[in-house]
Amino acid sequence: MKIAIASDHAGFEYKEKLKGLLKELGHDFVDFGAFSADSTDYPDFAYPAAQAVANGECERGIFICGTGVGVSIVANKVKGIRAANCCSVEEARLSRQHNDANVLTLGARLITWDSAKEIVKVWLETEFEGGRHARRVEKIHKLTGL
Ligand code: RB5
Repeated sequence: MKIAIASDHAGFEYKEKLKGLLKELGHDFVDFGAFSADSTDYPDFAYPAAQAVANGECERGIFICGTGVGVSIVANKVKGIRAANCCSVEEARLSRQHNDANVLTLGARLITWDSAKEIVKVWLETEFEGGRHARRVEKIHKLTGL
């Protein structure tokens, strides 16, 4: 899969580690920055990365900031994006099975790299269950216009 990756300064170190993990797992990525750990603003990176997922340039996205919250708020304002901020493997699994999340957001200040790794692996390999969940996911976009 081709994955859009993005971070701010707080997520920069994990984003750099994520590149190695994605390569190991056989995925391609496009890096939307940040490109250093200098203080910066997460919308500048999360917004274009979310647009790349929404327009089909990338199949999914993984965005990282201090808490994962800022990048998830930005991503969820882009039409077609379903971003899930996950602190556990169970949330990651369910965000795919039930919500068909196309963006995963992570909080580098809240979870260890070891847990981030497990969350990413499970999130990438878990399929959407469809069925009743498909109806609900369709309604997200129909009702919000996003
Ligand atoms: C940066 O200090 C921090 O606010 C940012 O990384 C993120 O956690 C915002 O949601």
